[in-house]
Amino acid sequence: MVKLSPSVLSADFSRLGEDCREVLDAGADMIHFDVMDGHFVDNLSFGLPVLEGLHNALPHAFMDVHLMITNPLKYVKQFVDAGANCITFHVECSDSIRATSAAIRAYGCQAGIAINPDTPAECVFPFLEGLSLVLVMGVQPGHGGQAFNPTALDKLRKLRAECQRRGLDIDLSVDGGVKAATTAPQCIEAGATVLVSGSAVFCAKDKAAAVAEFKRI
Ligand code: DX5
Ligand code: ZN
Repeated sequence: MVKLSPSVLSADFSRLGEDCREVLDAGADMIHFDVMDGHFVDNLSFGLPVLEGLHNALPHAFMDVHLMITNPLKYVKQFVDAGANCITFHVECSDSIRATSAAIRAYGCQAGIAINPDTPAECVFPFLEGLSLVLVMGVQPGHGGQAFNPTALDKLRKLRAECQRRGLDIDLSVDGGVKAATTAPQCIEAGATVLVSGSAVFCAKDKAAAVAEFKRI
């Protein structure tokens, strides 16, 4: 079954806990937590204390942490301690991919690798063993509400084929520009098993209905 991971980047930060509870009660499978350092991407978002607060408010929620930061390795333990269940970092980051992936798993957390729109799918092939997830960006990371770049579809297909060929059971996540009526079905057809969606869920007038629309696909 395809999972939905609403991105809190588009939530109302004055009522973050309530917004997250609402989408989880409506059937969302996890919470996508976008961390930006103003260096790997231009934008700044939020970090450890916010994750810790959200985890304390919703201790049973699966926290799908997406690190858009230059040096993820340095912060792995702190994100695990703050409540991350899966930590996804970028293959374009400045740290060792193998060391970062191993550190995440050594702390008992699931590891994921994200790839930007300009990065070929093959760049993650050497690192697939041991991963729980590969996240394909449908937009340039940094902001919610951008239009989906269809190059993500071809990458999902390549990743699905490679995982199948090697017998690897890895979730394929797609993040950015994912909408229930248009791009989400295309992503699922191409092999996505996790849909990350920010604005389409949290900016909807009726968030529960938006979640239900995704779950119906
Ligand atoms: C983009 C983030 C996304 C973002 C998606 O840099 O990684 O998770 O919140 O937002 P939408 O769904 O609005 O494109
Ligand atoms: Zn994200």
